Amino acid sequence: MGTGNSTFYTLDDFDLEGKKILLRVDINSPIDTKTGRITDETRIKSHAETIREITDRGASVAILAHQGRPGDSDFTTLAPHLPLLYKHINREVKYVEDLFGPFARSSIASMKPGDILLLENVRFFSEENIEKLPEAQAKTFLIKYLAPLFDLYVNDAFATAHRAHPSLVGFPVVMPSAGGRLLQKEVDFLSCVFDKSSKPCLFILGGGKVPDSVQLMETLLPKGIADQVLLTGLVSHLFLIASGKHLGRSTVKVMEGKGLNSMLPRAEALLKKYGDRIMMPLDVAVLDSGLRRETDLDHVSDDPIYDIGPKTSKFYGEVIDRSKMVIMRGPAGYIEDPLFTKGSEELLLSLVHSKAKTLLGGGHLRAISDRLGIADRIGYFSTGGGAFITFLSGEKLPALEVLISSAQKFKSDR
Ligand code: 3PG
Ligand code: MG
Repeated sequence: MGTGNSTFYTLDDFDLEGKKILLRVDINSPIDTKTGRITDETRIKSHAETIREITDRGASVAILAHQGRPGDSDFTTLAPHLPLLYKHINREVKYVEDLFGPFARSSIASMKPGDILLLENVRFFSEENIEKLPEAQAKTFLIKYLAPLFDLYVNDAFATAHRAHPSLVGFPVVMPSAGGRLLQKEVDFLSCVFDKSSKPCLFILGGGKVPDSVQLMETLLPKGIADQVLLTGLVSHLFLIASGKHLGRSTVKVMEGKGLNSMLPRAEALLKKYGDRIMMPLDVAVLDSGLRRETDLDHVSDDPIYDIGPKTSKFYGEVIDRSKMVIMRGPAGYIEDPLFTKGSEELLLSLVHSKAKTLLGGGHLRAISDRLGIADRIGYFSTGGGAFITFLSGEKLPALEVLISSAQKFKSDR
C-alpha cells in the first residue's frame, strides 16, 4: 500500500496459511487505577479485524503490545486486556505471562493454526523503552529471540508508529513485514489531508494539550496543510490573551498554573504571520454561581471560561460549511461538567451536517459523538494521539518508514 511515493506490504501480499505471525498492536488503554479496569475499549476493538483475518486465513498469531510507561500508574501487565480481546475478537486468546523467555518461546513453538497468544507488556523489557535507529533495534534481545520463531511480522500499531522502539522498528529489518488492516486504514484516511481535493482544509484544535496544538500550528500553517485553524478550549485562551484580550483572573491563573504563559511569544508570532487564518472564539460560556453563563469576551469578569459560546459555534459552523476537509482534535470546553459540553456538541453536529470529509482524533470526541448518536456519520476516528499529530504534520513515522524499506529488502521472499 502506498504512502506518498513509497509502499509497504499488507496482508494482501502474503499467503498466511499455516504461518506463524508476530503482530504488534496498540491496546494501550486508559485504566482506572482504583479498580484496575480498562475504561475505554476502543483501541482493543480496533485491532479485531486484523486478528480475525489472520486466524481465519489459517495462521497462528502472537500478539505484542504495551501498556503505560515504566513508573506510571497505568504501567500494568496485559491481564486486564485479555477478556476484552476475547470479547471483541470472539476467539479464545491465551495469555502468556512472558515476553521472550523459555515459557514464551515454547508457547510460540507449539502454536497451531488459529491459535492466538497474548505476550506480556513489551515495555517490561528495558530496551523497549529506548528510541534508536531500526538497525540498532534489530540487535536487541527481543528481536534476536523472537524473530526466528515467526514467518511474518505485522505491525497494526498505528497509534505507536511515531516511536522508534524495538518492537516497532526492529523486526522489519530482519524479516518480511506488513502493515495490518488498522494501520492501513489509518494511513489511508489520514493521507486524504494531503489531497488537492481536500482544500480548503480546516483544523479545529482544542482539548488539554496546548503545547501540542501550538507546535502543530507551527507546522501546519507554514506548510499550508491547514488553510484555516479554529481554536477552542485552553489553546484559544492562550491566543486570545496573545491578541491583547483580557480574560479575567480565573483564566490567567489557569494559564500560570499550567506554565502556559511561556508560550505567549509563540502564539504572538503565529498571529503576526498567520492571523488571517487563525480564528478565535467571539464569545464564551463561563461558570457563574454554579450555572452556565454565555457572554461576550468583554463581560467574562473573573469567572472561569469553560466553553465556547453560541456566536462562536455559529461562526465556526459557517467556516466548517465552506471547507472540504475538517480535522478536529480535542473537545471545545470542560466536558467533564455536563453544563459545558454544548460547544463541542454543536461543532460535531456542524461537522456531520456539512459535506466536508471529517477526521477526528482523541477519545473524548468519540464519546460525545456516541452519545449524540452521530458517530457513524463521522468520516473517521483515528486511534492515534501523538502518531495522528506527527502524520498530519507531514512528518515521517519511524514504524511506517521501516515497513517501506523492509518491503524493498524482502521483495523476493513473499
Ligand atoms: C499512546 O497512547 O500515545 C501510544 O500508545 C504510545 O504510547 P506512548 O506515548 O507512551 O509512547
Ligand atoms: Mg502518547
